[in-house]
Amino acid sequence: MEKSERAKERKEKRLQEISLLRTIPYSDHQRWWSAETVAVVTGGNRGIGFEISKQLAAQGVTVILTSRDHSVGLEAAKVFQEGGFNVFCHQLDVLDTASITEFCDWLKQNYGGLDILINNAAVNFNQGFDNTVEYASQVITTNYYGTKNMIQAMIPLMKPSAAGARIVNVSSRLGRINGKRSVRGIIVRPGYAAGLRNSVEKPWKIEDVCLREKFSNLDTITEELIDQTVSSFLQQVQDGTWESGGWPKTFTDYSVSKLAVNTYTRLMAKMLSDRPEGQKIYINCYCPGWVKTAMTGYAGNISVEAGADTAVWLALLPDLAVTGKFFAERREISF
Ligand SMILES: NC(=O)c1ccc[n+]([C@@H]2O[C@H](COP(=O)([O-])OP(=O)(O)OC[C@H]3O[C@@H](n4cnc5c(N)ncnc54)[C@H](OP(=O)(O)O)[C@@H]3O)[C@@H](O)[C@H]2O)c1
Repeated sequence: MEKSERAKERKEKRLQEISLLRTIPYSDHQRWWSAETVAVVTGGNRGIGFEISKQLAAQGVTVILTSRDHSVGLEAAKVFQEGGFNVFCHQLDVLDTASITEFCDWLKQNYGGLDILINNAAVNFNQGFDNTVEYASQVITTNYYGTKNMIQAMIPLMKPSAAGARIVNVSSRLGRINGKRSVRGIIVRPGYAAGLRNSVEKPWKIEDVCLREKFSNLDTITEELIDQTVSSFLQQVQDGTWESGGWPKTFTDYSVSKLAVNTYTRLMAKMLSDRPEGQKIYINCYCPGWVKTAMTGYAGNISVEAGADTAVWLALLPDLAVTGKFFAERREISF
């Protein structure tokens, strides 16, 4: 059996295990949360964000489902309210400072803050084998800066608790620094025929060794490094030179945006690590897999239920001391 087939088989087995795990209810002593626990979900009006809202509400958490289009969010929340869930909607555009400020004021006034933040809102304009960078600026701004905006705005509102507040960034394996470059599922080196693929050194997603090392080492990760990297990518897009810039070859802008999200997750975990007991904030990111949502043109290979699972599992982990890590299918994976 081919290596890729074995990997596919392992993943399918893991997804089956997870669907079983999801049927096991949390015991009373594991439930650190209650109806007073407040979770904010960005981009909750559809797709994975909608499903994360549903699964958190089903566990008894109060969910603030946010949506940039208020009327769409209200409709989504209504579905849950009719089902008896504590889900309430508020308008939120993660790129609009006035919208974020208004949301913060409302959240503080009505709920006194939050316990869980799910940074789910994102955009992607690539589908199938397309690799357009036409919307690179919007992709980087929404996925990276939108996530950063929300983290910065929500940290001061995170409620102190023994269990610790939690931030889950919905990311992607496409943003892995150490991933090997894959074109149409085949590992290839540029300039080599695919037939030679086993006899050549496999290329890295990020070709620049120095950049790869800086992103790999927590000691060299800084906010400036991340910001400068995404700006330099956007500058190359503007100059028309990005194709020789050594960036990931598939879903390039989206991959760079998620690399930035992953790296920012690690940096924030480090920066938040010295908070005193009772005021801890744990931050992790995860990849939902390739999910059947509008983002993939519903061409993904897993359901939204399975795609939302690891976010909810991370947000509710009973003894969460884990922070600054990357997960998929309820397991830690490498950056
Ligand atoms: N689907 C996959 O296979 C896959 C794989 C890996 C990672 N992910 C990640 O999973 C998350 C959810 O994706 P999805 O598949 O559920 O996509 P989706 O159905 O396209 O949903 C994206 C959500 O983000 C919202 N959004 C976009 N820009 C926003 C902004 N400026 N402010 C507030 N909300 C904004 C959208 O709102 P509107 O409805 O107003 O557009 C929508 O609610 C994303 O972070 C994505 O990168 C998805």
